[in-house]
Amino acid sequence: DLDNILSLSISPEVPIRYMNYHGMFVPDSYQLIADSIENFQIRDDDVWVCSFPKAGTTWTQEMVWNIGNNFDPDTAKTPLPIKFPFVEFTGTTTTGWISLNKADSTFPDHMSKSVEYATNLPSPRFLKTHLPFNLLPKQLRTREKKSKMIYVARNPKDVCISYYHHYKLLEGYCSTFENFSKLFLGDKVYYAPFWDHVISYWDNKGNNDILFLTYENMKKDLGSVIQQTAAFLNKSPMSPEQLNRLKEHLSFDSMKKNPAANYENAAESINASKIFGENFKAEGVFIRKGEYGQWKSFMSPELIERFDEWTKLKLKNHRDLFDRMI
Ligand code: A3P
Repeated sequence: DLDNILSLSISPEVPIRYMNYHGMFVPDSYQLIADSIENFQIRDDDVWVCSFPKAGTTWTQEMVWNIGNNFDPDTAKTPLPIKFPFVEFTGTTTTGWISLNKADSTFPDHMSKSVEYATNLPSPRFLKTHLPFNLLPKQLRTREKKSKMIYVARNPKDVCISYYHHYKLLEGYCSTFENFSKLFLGDKVYYAPFWDHVISYWDNKGNNDILFLTYENMKKDLGSVIQQTAAFLNKSPMSPEQLNRLKEHLSFDSMKKNPAANYENAAESINASKIFGENFKAEGVFIRKGEYGQWKSFMSPELIERFDEWTKLKLKNHRDLFDRMI
């Protein structure tokens, strides 16, 4: 069964306890920060990037920050974790981040207290979260403040493939893709269930303060997504030259080379920290393939069918979202 797969697939040397926190699958250490997230003080001019992991969060963050800060290649060099902190990142949500935090100098000490760090940032703040809408800080969820949210969604089959590689890199995963896909479909990966996450933002985007983007659209026409995001952030449209420079900055090849955004020390840090035990070897890179439709060559026809059935079932009352994403 799934719990069995889970305990055998995540480095059994260092067992992790999990919990279902109001419907969200997380390590049980999430409880340590849950209250500080709930009570996090929002500001009207905050800008949030929200997503299910692997939907293109890092790419969207780099885009949003540069639009918000009138793209200048020099200031863009500030590492993402500093200019755009991951609010619930305390080394307790996704376990792998603990060791990055300790071993990687682009993750200074203050990042282990991310809520505190974010609380002390000057305005306007740029903040990242993977939390579903219903678990966002109270003032954000209830729209007590007017801050803007940009949600990025991606086809779940590609998310699953990307998340599998992420788990092998950062979460101590040492089993097969077949087993990982079972965990994914069975809501036993961090921040699952996937469709509830997407739906939670989709259903709440009515009052114009959530911009709903997709990874696929960013791949197809990044220029239009940049202009749409600029308009959403009340920025004037970019000139063609500015737009081209930003598009180049955000291209897969540039992002892959960009030390401010590529988490290049990920595997090395995990391995040096031995957080998943002596025998676990982190594999891979964070900015990995950057493609859409990778599932067509990566998944078996049976698995594709299982994903399609699952999606149909989960979206049976969300035809509009189905049409937008599938
Ligand atoms: P793959 O693993 O499919 O390559 P997140 O930031 O939410 O963790 O998402 C990571 C995914 O976004 C990875 O997908 C990564 O390669 C991809 N990505 C990052 N930067 C990108 C870019 N500039 N263009 C396209 N994909 C990008």
